[in-house]
Order: sequence, then structure tokens, then C-alpha cells
Amino acid sequence: MARVIVMDLSRHNTVMVGHDRYFVLHEGERSLLVRDHCPHRGGPLSLARRTPDGRRLSCPWHGTKVGVSAVKRSCLPMVRSGDEAVVVLPDTGDPVSVIHKEILANLPPDPTHDEGAESR
Ligand code: FES
Repeated sequence: MARVIVMDLSRHNTVMVGHDRYFVLHEGERSLLVRDHCPHRGGPLSLARRTPDGRRLSCPWHGTKVGVSAVKRSCLPMVRSGDEAVVVLPDTGDPVSVIHKEILANLPPDPTHDEGAESR
């Protein structure tokens, strides 16, 4: 059976499910709850900045560029109505907490970034 939670997006932007962290990524008009996990070695993509073209996140740990489309594929089912979001969580039995955290990935692209390794 799935677990369902209700988040107030005006107050919270991060969900912890056991040791797995998810953050609210803004994509145009949409908000997606995506996994905060770089495919290289698990770095915090919530602290990544977008590349100038806006299509990738530059991981703060080793600089891997992760495609936003790949990050979006890690999202959890979420339905938003105003600031309220209903989220379906994996049924792991792990404790869940909803918190507020700094999210750099939603800031405008970093114009000073350099090109480097990439993961899609
Ligand atoms: S963990 Fe993200 S680049 Fe290494």
C-alpha cells in the first residue's frame, strides 16, 4: 500500500524518506518532487546550479552535469493545488519528515559555469 502525505509548499520544499531525500524542483509552471541524488556519487542536486542553457544541473560535489530531463524522471507522483501538494511516497516503511532546505537548483542559471563532465 502506498503512503500519501500532504505538503504545504509555502513552508516546505524537501521530503526525507528514511535516508532518501527529495526536493521540489520548479520547471516552468510545474513543481516536481525529485530525488536529491547525483548519479555520480550521490551528491545533493538541490545545491546544484543550472547551466546557462537551463537544461542541466551542475553537481556541487564533482561538477557532473546532470540533465534536468533525467532528474525529472526520478520524481514522485505529486498533485498540486495552490500551495498544497499531495504526494505518493514509496512504501518503504521508513520514517518520513517534511522540511525546508535551501534549494539552489531553482535559481536562475549560473552564467560563470564551465562545461565539463556530463551525465544524462
Ligand atoms: S556526486 Fe555529483 S559529481 Fe560527484
